[in-house]
Order: sequence, then structure tokens, then C-alpha cells
Amino acid sequence: MKNGTFQFQLQLHFSTVTLAMVLLQTWRQTAFSVFGYLNFTKAAFLDHSRNFKPEDMEIQMPGKNCIVTGANSGIGYATAEGLAKRGATVYLVCRNKERGEAALSEIQTRTGNQNVHLEICDLSSVNEIKSFTSRFSKRNVPLHVLVNNAGILEQNRVTTPEGFELNFAVNVLGTYTITELMVPILEKASPDARVITVSSGGMYTSPLTKDLQYSDSNFNGVKQYARNKRVQVS
Ligand SMILES: NC(=O)c1ccc[n+]([C@@H]2O[C@H](COP(=O)([O-])OP(=O)(O)OC[C@H]3O[C@@H](n4cnc5c(N)ncnc54)[C@H](OP(=O)(O)O)[C@@H]3O)[C@@H](O)[C@H]2O)c1
Repeated sequence: MKNGTFQFQLQLHFSTVTLAMVLLQTWRQTAFSVFGYLNFTKAAFLDHSRNFKPEDMEIQMPGKNCIVTGANSGIGYATAEGLAKRGATVYLVCRNKERGEAALSEIQTRTGNQNVHLEICDLSSVNEIKSFTSRFSKRNVPLHVLVNNAGILEQNRVTTPEGFELNFAVNVLGTYTITELMVPILEKASPDARVITVSSGGMYTSPLTKDLQYSDSNFNGVKQYARNKRVQVS
């Protein structure tokens, strides 16, 4: 085969592959937008909430021990407050003492529930998680609900002191480690124990990949977040 023909065929091959990748990415983004609009917006929530059973919303949870990670803001805070309002004993797992104490005091005041406790743990660190779970197991109480809510989207490729890419460390490794180490304590509440991991519709924008720590040189934090959230449900 002549050199020119070979180069032309090679170029055609790469153009076809690039076009296929662009089309796949466009399809993913469109599917995510439509699915997200129908399922994850406020209007979608209100629509779905019509099917909520009123009696489910009235449930009280005295005597149930619940851990909520990343409980000082956003979804984690609302979850912890909701559980405290229903009479559960709630452990807020936060990485920052000041923000954690502020959330603790606000939740206690707003719900009147004093069985709300603060635990400081940076979930990007396997060592801190080990030390938190070991502390928690000394309480000798069953764990009924573990809410893996803490999550981040770090745009830059940051490495933790333990050597892991930061998004992966919190969203994947931290979630997996705390869940694994809590299993014996969850088993004490069997068959009532629940583990809830807060993933994201953003996962629909990315397929599963083996490159868990995004070693690729053109790091993209949004893509890494989507990959992490995909791993959480796989
Ligand atoms: N908001 C959305 O639209 C949305 C949609 C889908 C899924 N989600 C998921 O929902 C979860 C909560 O998100 P949000 O929107 O409520 O965000 P947020 O308000 O930023 O809350 C994230 C929480 O995680 C904590 N956190 C982050 N890194 C941590 C670490 N290394 N150790 C311990 N705690 C850490 C944060 O603590 P600091 O305050 O100390 O940073 C904060 O309390 C996340 O998993 C997110 O991926 C959110």
C-alpha cells in the first residue's frame, strides 16, 4: 500500500473514532439532561412526592442509631435534622470542628433532640476513618443507619497525604472504608440496618473506568466526580 493511501486511511479511522466519541458524549449529556429534568429537579421531586405515603412521613425512630457523614451542610444537614426530628440518636460526622459544632447546636435547638453527637473525621483519610470507627465501636451500640453523604468535587488534581487523588479518596475510598469497617456494628442492628450512599445523577455522564484515580494528564474534576459517583452505585 502506498504511504499516502495508508496515511489517508489512518486519518479517516481517527476521524471516525473521534466522531463516535463526540456522538457518544453528546448522547450521554442529552440523556442526562432529559433524565435529570424528569427526576432530579424540584418539580420532579414535587411530582414524585405525590406518591409518598403520609404514614411513612410520620415514622418515629427512637432507639435507632444513625450516622450521617458530611452532616454540617446541604443534604447531610437536612438528613441529620430530619432523623433528629424523628427521635433518632444521630452522629454527625464532620471534618471541621467549628462547622460541626455549629450544625450540632442548630440541630439540637431546632429539634429539641439532645441525642445528637458530633464526631470529627476527615473522610479523605483511611487512618482517620479507622480511628473513628474504632472509637465508635467502643460505644458498644448497634448502628441502624449509615448515611454516606459526604462528597466533594475538586477541580484540580490534589493528592492526599496518604497518596490518593482527593475526589477518589473522599467519594470512593472513604465511602467504601467507613462502610466496610462499620459492617460488624451494622450487623448488631440486623435485620434493621441500612446503608444509604448519596450518589448523583451526574454519574450518567460517565461510564465506569478502571482508572479510579484519574492518572490521565488532562485531569477533569467534573468527569472524576461523575466517575466516582458511578463507582458508588456499581
Ligand atoms: N447538591 C446537589 O445538587 C447534589 C446532587 C446529587 C448528589 N449530590 C451529593 O450529595 C452529597 C451532599 O452534597 P451537598 O450538595 O449537600 O454538598 P455540600 O453542602 O457541599 O456538603 C458536602 C458535605 O461533605 C463534607 N465533606 C467533604 N469532604 C469531606 C471530608 N474529606 N471529610 C468529611 N466530610 C467531608 C462537607 O464538609 P465541609 O463543609 O467541611 O466541606 C459537607 O458537609 C454529596 O455526596 C454530593 O455528591 C448533591
